[in-house]
Amino acid sequence: PKNRRSKNFICTISDDRGEEATYAGYPISSVATPDTGKTIGDVISLLWFKKVYPKWATDFIETVIKTVADHGPAVSGAHNAKVTARAGKSVVESLVTGLLTIGPRFGGAIDGAAKYFKYANDNNMTPQEFLAYMKKQGIPIPGIGHRIKSLRNPDKRVEGLKNYAKEHFPSTPLLEYALEVEQLTTSKKDNLILNVDGTIGILMVDMWRALGYTEAEIDEFIESGTLNSFFILGRTIGFIGHVLDEKRLAMPMYRHPFDDILYDVKKAEEIK
Ligand code: ACO
Ligand code: LMR
Repeated sequence: PKNRRSKNFICTISDDRGEEATYAGYPISSVATPDTGKTIGDVISLLWFKKVYPKWATDFIETVIKTVADHGPAVSGAHNAKVTARAGKSVVESLVTGLLTIGPRFGGAIDGAAKYFKYANDNNMTPQEFLAYMKKQGIPIPGIGHRIKSLRNPDKRVEGLKNYAKEHFPSTPLLEYALEVEQLTTSKKDNLILNVDGTIGILMVDMWRALGYTEAEIDEFIESGTLNSFFILGRTIGFIGHVLDEKRLAMPMYRHPFDDILYDVKKAEEIK
């Protein structure tokens, strides 16, 4: 072999050297246009997982992306993106400030939900044991709780995802377990529902198990941040919308009103 020089980079997902670039071996033209019958879900399955998933799975991925695309201007990420756009920054600069809020409290609890619910279920913890275990960990249960959604004001997105899975997944054992946990948490406080992050995380695990992935492979997806990526990708659509909205409305620089801030400043003590 003449090609012995060591390489600085490895790429296992796409190849642009031929006449037409490929996604995991599939020419772009074989997935790009509607007549191919392929969707964004198929493109994600090729570029993130290097597999051709069955239609029930790619349709689920597509459903997730569409479901999380936006949730109004008041959530932390949209707020950041809007404030940045109003400071005169570009689309990409404003977008990333929104994306940076995605994390354990907002939109980025998906990997954590998959991790902890899977761990509890694998170890046959009862919902009571799981709650006690999470209390010991000292963190809120990822995927549980919502600021405005509750038993009285259910999250239609969660209903939609659960209904899709019940109709199209071969089985949903981790979802069944999470719903038992939800019964217990909502009996304590009615906003401690299984939220949209939790539902996505848990259903992705059910999807991968049904697709035949090993536990080690699923753990690797979780550890590498794969599940939060669905939210990052989907919400990018909404954040861009909010940034373009600000620009089209030609909104001025934002400054927060004094009367919405509790100023509680004491004169600094001098240390001698
Ligand atoms: N697990 C256990 N207890 C919880 C949880 C949870 N996930 N969330 C809230 N609580 C408890 C709190 O400990 C608190 O108890 P206390 O009254 O005895 O002190 C009470 O519920 C109220 O807590 P708050 O922090 O006021 O709830 P808030 O409405 O501010 O929080 C939030 C909402 C941030 C989503 C919270 O529930 C949480 O951190 N959840 C876990 C992370 C998560 O799943 N985030 C994704 C949300 S969906 C999305 O962003 C798209
Ligand atoms: C979201 O999707 O942004 C929300 O669930 C968070 C919120 O507070 O509405």
